[in-house]
Amino acid sequence: MKFRFLVSATALATAFAMNPVFAQSAESTQLGDEKYQPRVGQSGKDVIWVPTNDAVADAMLKVAKVRPTDLVYDLGAGDGKIAIAAAKNFGATAVGIEYNKDMAELARRNTERAGVSDKVKIIHGDIFVEDFSKATVVTMYLLPDLNLKIRPTILKMAPGTRIVTNSFNMGDWEPDDTIGTGYAQGYFWIVPGKAAGKWALKGMEGSQQEATLELTQSYQRVGGTIKLYGTTQPILGATLTGNRLKFTFLDHSKQSRIIEATINGDELSGQVLENSPLYSITGTRTSQ
Ligand SMILES: C[S@@+](CC[C@H](N)C(=O)[O-])C[C@H]1O[C@@H](n2cnc3c(N)ncnc32)[C@H](O)[C@@H]1O
Repeated sequence: MKFRFLVSATALATAFAMNPVFAQSAESTQLGDEKYQPRVGQSGKDVIWVPTNDAVADAMLKVAKVRPTDLVYDLGAGDGKIAIAAAKNFGATAVGIEYNKDMAELARRNTERAGVSDKVKIIHGDIFVEDFSKATVVTMYLLPDLNLKIRPTILKMAPGTRIVTNSFNMGDWEPDDTIGTGYAQGYFWIVPGKAAGKWALKGMEGSQQEATLELTQSYQRVGGTIKLYGTTQPILGATLTGNRLKFTFLDHSKQSRIIEATINGDELSGQVLENSPLYSITGTRTSQ
């Protein structure tokens, strides 16, 4: 048991040490206060503590477009620096979840020292137990396998929730954007809505004209066909951003048209556009 712990702690330290951010973080961080001085690389429950570099934290919050209306959760909050930066530099409300009790208490004192204790809450808890479903932005500096372990919970969050990681990706869920600041990398995703299935669309030509839209989906990637006037054609350039679906098709006179729609459960509503809106449409999912 002890041997297994040592092996896994070594593996974690190696994963971080192979990352250039590690060295940078270790050099530039003021550690702790008079009550508690953590060590970079000290073990945590599932991952060691390595603080995110300030410039990387800034880049992470910027790529997620954090704003004052956001509720940012940092999973594995360490000394609280990302939650504090979200409040202090971006005006957001933030919550940090940290398993190590001494670290959580240090993070709380840091929120007071930074003058943001009214905007930042530090929870002493486990990220695999605590509820972070209300977050509009989730930040993480964990490890690849932990990102994969928490991914199913993230994919159940509200469509449109923004996720940003320091250093590590999320397996076959391709990022929507990446951060590359020279010495650091990060990844950004938007939780996709559920678009897959067969949809009956109404109002296509500004009348009762109906169409059948069939969509397949892998995370935020969507493709499929639309059947209009008895003819089936592939949809083009489809994107799914949270709950916002957009694609191009050809109308009855072979004119290129765009559909932009918002999915809400098994209903959607939106518009057919040329350059400006032409028709309002609605849709119902008839099968998954
Ligand atoms: C790599 S550090 C990142 C700290 C901070 N997010 C940052 O970017 O500066 C990971 C942190 O997660 C904490 N941690 C490890 N497993 C955890 C768990 N299951 N729940 C909550 N925190 C955890 C560790 O104690 C450590 O402070």
